[in-house]
Amino acid sequence: MKYYHGHDNLYQKLLARGQAGWDKGDYESFQMLPLIKQFLSESHLKPSQSCALDLGCGTGSLACFLAAQGFTVTGIDISTTAIQSAKEQARKRNLNIDFRAADLCYEHLPEKTFDLITDNHFLHCIVFPDERKAVLKNIRQALKPHGEFWMETMVNYPQMIPAKEWNLDEEGISWYPIPPDQKTEECIERDGQLWLPTRRIQPSDQIIINELHQAGFHIFWQETTPPKDEKDTGAFRAKCRPNQ
Ligand SMILES: C[S@@+](CC[C@H](N)C(=O)[O-])C[C@H]1O[C@@H](n2cnc3c(N)ncnc32)[C@H](O)[C@@H]1O
Repeated sequence: MKYYHGHDNLYQKLLARGQAGWDKGDYESFQMLPLIKQFLSESHLKPSQSCALDLGCGTGSLACFLAAQGFTVTGIDISTTAIQSAKEQARKRNLNIDFRAADLCYEHLPEKTFDLITDNHFLHCIVFPDERKAVLKNIRQALKPHGEFWMETMVNYPQMIPAKEWNLDEEGISWYPIPPDQKTEECIERDGQLWLPTRRIQPSDQIIINELHQAGFHIFWQETTPPKDEKDTGAFRAKCRPNQ
């Protein structure tokens, strides 16, 4: 069991209390929607001739939006609960989407297949450098040569004061304390206490930029925005293409 398998439990809880997806808001107005609309209006991509992949698609709100625009869409998530719900959401909307449960740290994506790959708050759930490297390499290989990767991810904006319960370490990984009988390979021990990642990393934007460059991406648009309040996180947004 990897730390990110914990997402499935969270989906079971949030669906049971009537939430349609990760965001507390309306299914149709997910977090990255304004940015996606802006990017689409600026893009050379022709939806009816383009294949899109949404990473960590959750219950599928972005995937459904892209399919409704005419894209041929695949959505991948580690949570079988989220994927089951995404399939129901697509069926309700009469959308044909290939939703699959898989681990993006290990799943080998088909090469040069997608015109567009989107990350709506998935990558910051992958906390260890080797895993992030594997995911970015996978994305890079799965994009067509002129394909684009659009992302929105958390960063530890310099002025941010992290909430106490996040237990951020110097790399931006947040940890939670666990009892000794739940020890796993991913645990660290500090001050006599075992800790496991809370499925969240907030590195600096420069670290993310370096990761993207190392994975072979050219970033042709980017912005970093500060947190709205002390409980919020900063965000890094980017549009990338594979280096030729
Ligand atoms: C913060 S949620 C965002 C979900 C969705 N993009 C949205 O905005 O509604 C992160 C998502 O990444 C998925 N995830 C985490 N680790 C994963 C992995 N290794 N492979 C595939 N999906 C993963 C989680 O199950 C979760 O749905």
